[in-house]
Amino acid sequence: MRDSLSGLKERALRELASVGSTQELREFQLRFLGKKGELKAVLRGMGKLPPEERPTVGRMANQIKELLERAIEEKEALLRQREEKERLASEGIDVTLPGRGPEMGGVHPITRVLREIEDVFVSMGFQVAEGPEIETDYYNFEALNIPSHHPARDMQDTFYLLEGLLLRTHTSPVQIRVMERFSPPIRIIAPGKVYRRDADISHTPMFHQVEGLLVDEVSTFSDLKGVLERFASRTFGPRTLVRFRPSYFPFTEPSAEMDIGCVICGGKGCRVCKGSGWVEILGCGMVDPAVFSFVNYDSSRYRGFAFGLGVERIAMLKYDIDDIRLFFENDLRFLKQFL
Ligand code: DAH
Repeated sequence: MRDSLSGLKERALRELASVGSTQELREFQLRFLGKKGELKAVLRGMGKLPPEERPTVGRMANQIKELLERAIEEKEALLRQREEKERLASEGIDVTLPGRGPEMGGVHPITRVLREIEDVFVSMGFQVAEGPEIETDYYNFEALNIPSHHPARDMQDTFYLLEGLLLRTHTSPVQIRVMERFSPPIRIIAPGKVYRRDADISHTPMFHQVEGLLVDEVSTFSDLKGVLERFASRTFGPRTLVRFRPSYFPFTEPSAEMDIGCVICGGKGCRVCKGSGWVEILGCGMVDPAVFSFVNYDSSRYRGFAFGLGVERIAMLKYDIDDIRLFFENDLRFLKQFL
């Protein structure tokens, strides 16, 4: 019995020396000192000893137990220290590494083209006006002389909201709002978002327009042409050709569309101008007297012109982009080209 106790002690001390982690130490402790441990197993044999030997053996067992407990405590302190050091080393921060700088943002290409367009008209004396994106039928259609059977009112094109409200389908309603509040002379542009139920390679449900309106007592169609030619040469370069084609809009009379010589092929004919050498960039005309009567302007005294253009379309021509959806997908590889 004594032999097996001292054998156990030797073995335990040897094994303890090779314990490498606090986890292993826990297992070691259980194996030797636990309820089902080896020391308990040896002591269970005590009953077979002659009574006079029991106290000595008992004392011996106690000494071994205390010895092992102390040794375990020391080992534990040592291991903890070592593990803490390792943890600190692995979690350590290398303060000499170069920092990660913030990424530089940029202006979205549409915002950029919008600002350029604004600058051109502001330099000609136009002021920037704004109107709501949620409009009434009256401002978006009625007061612009768009009768109720007009196809522009079709559910196919317009996002209707509750209670006679809708998302404006163009920036033209801002014309009405401005004329209601101010008397001529008026010279404004109205940039902003517009909405149509439309989605393909050249249409998105939301896009941007810039509306223009000038009202005074003297302006003519020639002035309209002069302003828009100036816009074309400032936006697409001084040698840009323009032409005006007769067209129809309910709120202008006469109405026209302006084309520019195709900036992609220089007029030779390509996929963008569909071989014609010309691309349409805006609608315009002299304000229809019917519109003046909605805002109580005396149409025998006042005259004016208006125009409306699509910003995405201008940006696509300027940067030779063939899919309008690229502007709204916000793929950084696309956007970074405009930084
Ligand atoms: N509102 C028209 C549209 O969205 C564009 C337009 C055409 C505006 C002629 C005008 C204009 O002011 O005179 O298609």
